[in-house]
Amino acid sequence: MIKVKLKQVNKFYSNQHCAVEAANFDIYDKELLVLVGPSGCGKSTLLRMIAGLESISSGTIEIDGKIINDVDAKDRDIAMVFQSYALYPHMSVAENLAFSLQLRKLSKAEIKDRVESTANTLGLQDLLERRPAQLSGGQRQRVAVGRALIRKPSIFLLDEPLSNLDAKLRMSMRMEIARLHKDSDATMIYVTHDQIEAMTLGQRIVVFQGGKIQQIDTPLRLYAKPCNMFVAGFLGSPSMNFFHGKLAEEINSTSKFSLILDSARLPLPCLPGQVESLKYFLNQKIIVGIRPEDLLLRQQTQQDRIYQSFSLNLEAIEPVGNEIFLHLRFAGQEVIARVPPDFTPVIGQDVTLYYTAEKLHFFEAEHPSLRIDDHLADQNTVPMH
Ligand SMILES: Nc1ncnc2c1ncn2[C@@H]1O[C@H](COP(=O)(O)OP(=O)(O)OP(=O)(O)O)[C@@H](O)[C@H]1O
Ligand SMILES: [Mg+2]
Repeated sequence: MIKVKLKQVNKFYSNQHCAVEAANFDIYDKELLVLVGPSGCGKSTLLRMIAGLESISSGTIEIDGKIINDVDAKDRDIAMVFQSYALYPHMSVAENLAFSLQLRKLSKAEIKDRVESTANTLGLQDLLERRPAQLSGGQRQRVAVGRALIRKPSIFLLDEPLSNLDAKLRMSMRMEIARLHKDSDATMIYVTHDQIEAMTLGQRIVVFQGGKIQQIDTPLRLYAKPCNMFVAGFLGSPSMNFFHGKLAEEINSTSKFSLILDSARLPLPCLPGQVESLKYFLNQKIIVGIRPEDLLLRQQTQQDRIYQSFSLNLEAIEPVGNEIFLHLRFAGQEVIARVPPDFTPVIGQDVTLYYTAEKLHFFEAEHPSLRIDDHLADQNTVPMH
């Protein structure tokens, strides 16, 4: 069932700046949808329009099938957690939690019950009498989430709620938010600029850039099949390697095509379904992407895969514990490979790396650098629970 529907939603600020352009997508009931994109791409603006804190320049937003463009924020059954979670400094944790319920004139008994159960859910039972200044950053963050949770909203909006926390705390709060989502019946929209947070938390992810939606899909499908170079480069760390060159046809080779770079040639194996689309780009500039983990030190024993290889000069290594990042150079450009930690490389030497057709991504060189190859899956796919 669709909970929130955005139809051609635009936001122009008075300076003619288009902060959100033609946003068109559905958020399903009880879904945890993540909006991700770089700073300034319009994430908060979109969230604030859903919450009713920002006017909509054109288009419609529907909740439960009803257009809510002109419905007041307080009447939308939505609670929002902001990046700067200003708690009331002169109130205790319990009072901060109870505040919105008092405004709604709930009975004292009901408020007491809800404060207790919210505090239990978030592990705040022993902190109820403290003031915000007497709490750690993570505890304050929990109170901010609690203030939204206590209202039992049907839609929960979170705008970069963890950005003030250190890495370890972020990870545990992330797990807590995933658990809260699972335990409640709420639909959640979570905004972040952190791609790892998006990948680990989202049932589906909306990738945003420059006010425009680039792609909507499940984390795994986005990673496996990014629809353009922006999405390909944004998701994944280290980022996907891109090779710019001209597409040439190969005769008498295990590869049907190759990429001609300034001073080198990269063999390009491809899947049967890609041949026709690639032929269309013969002798034209294209961009080939390979993720760092898809460059292998040796061929695997999968019978059905044909490996190609190329030789690169090793310039530096970056051991990160469970793996090593190799910084290499090929045809003048830097390439990064992620390899197992038992590899003992010699800097300055050449390394041969292997790859297969399944792991190559082809993009048009022209704006907007769309994926060349087979057709993308339906963008508004129903989430997998
Ligand atoms: N009140 C405003 N008036 C004019 N322009 C604005 C206003 N608020 C935001 N903008 C502009 O709209 C664009 C989108 O801003 P928004 O805050 O939605 O970005 P964001 O994706 O949330 O960024 P961040 O990750 O930094 O929070 C930015 O270019 C911003 O400068
Ligand atoms: Mg923002």
